[in-house]
Amino acid sequence: MSGSFTIGVIGGGGWLGGALASSLLDSGVLQPQDLSLSYRSQKPPRDLGAFWTKDSQQLCDRSDVVIVCVRPADWPTLAVDCRGKLVISVMAGIRLDQLARHHKTDRVVRALPNAAAEVGKSYTPWIASNGASEVDRTVTRRIFAACGLEDEVSRESDIDYLTGLTGAGPAFPALLAAAMIKDAARHGISPSMARRAVNAVLIGTGRMLERRGDCPDDIVSSFLDYRGTTAAAIEAMRASGFDQAVAEGLSAAFLKSVSMGDAS
Ligand SMILES: NC(=O)c1ccc[n+]([C@@H]2O[C@H](COP(=O)([O-])OP(=O)(O)OC[C@H]3O[C@@H](n4cnc5c(N)ncnc54)[C@H](OP(=O)(O)O)[C@@H]3O)[C@@H](O)[C@H]2O)c1
Repeated sequence: MSGSFTIGVIGGGGWLGGALASSLLDSGVLQPQDLSLSYRSQKPPRDLGAFWTKDSQQLCDRSDVVIVCVRPADWPTLAVDCRGKLVISVMAGIRLDQLARHHKTDRVVRALPNAAAEVGKSYTPWIASNGASEVDRTVTRRIFAACGLEDEVSRESDIDYLTGLTGAGPAFPALLAAAMIKDAARHGISPSMARRAVNAVLIGTGRMLERRGDCPDDIVSSFLDYRGTTAAAIEAMRASGFDQAVAEGLSAAFLKSVSMGDAS
């Protein structure tokens, strides 16, 4: 594989597959003629100018790199021979050794983007097998840098942990926001205003973190030091088990990730 390469996304009509495909094209990493996408039941209306097929083996034969983006439960019956190809899985739970065996290649990468790939703001940790080359690693970096930030990790267990922390990540601020909106409604704030207000808080915090490069803990400390209404809220939330609830949620995601691999 040299400077230019072809990519196939199995499950390219799905949520994450579609987001990855759009990012690759929008960032210019790939031209539409170098992209193949496969679907199972229905081809989505937005075809991106790429090659679409129901036959994932045909997709693989046309591609240097195959990204597997189906749900883990659908993967055991996905019989695609990827001999000689680089296979990148974004599936939660499925391990490198399972991928290599199943797709008949020792060049495999296990990655875990998140739903913010849709807006080019994913965080994607990944790990490559011993059989993957330096070029394979460079290609992997380019693919995931097209939809946000990426980091290569050295232990596969880190991917299982990060599956909860960042793979599920966008769900957690959304969970907090949903609880805030519910509370606002209980206090008589109209649903549309509550939603607008809480969304603005989320977006504003994200932009602030991005621009200032602060650690969130520094922001929390500043509010605690101020000893105002925000400190009162933070202390009450913590006394009610906020930190513990987050730790238990992340632990549940970690255990689920490990068990998904064991089941496949
Ligand atoms: N969404 C996220 O935030 C996120 C984050 C990190 C990792 N992931 C991982 O990404 C993978 C996909 O998740 P998703 O949220 O994008 O799910 P999804 O929206 O359900 O997309 C999966 C797609 O795969 C297609 N598919 C299933 N079997 C196929 C086959 N044999 N050939 C071709 N296409 C096939 C499905 O088609 P049908 O619609 O016809 O069934 C569907 O379009 C999962 O393994 C998940 O663990 C997702």
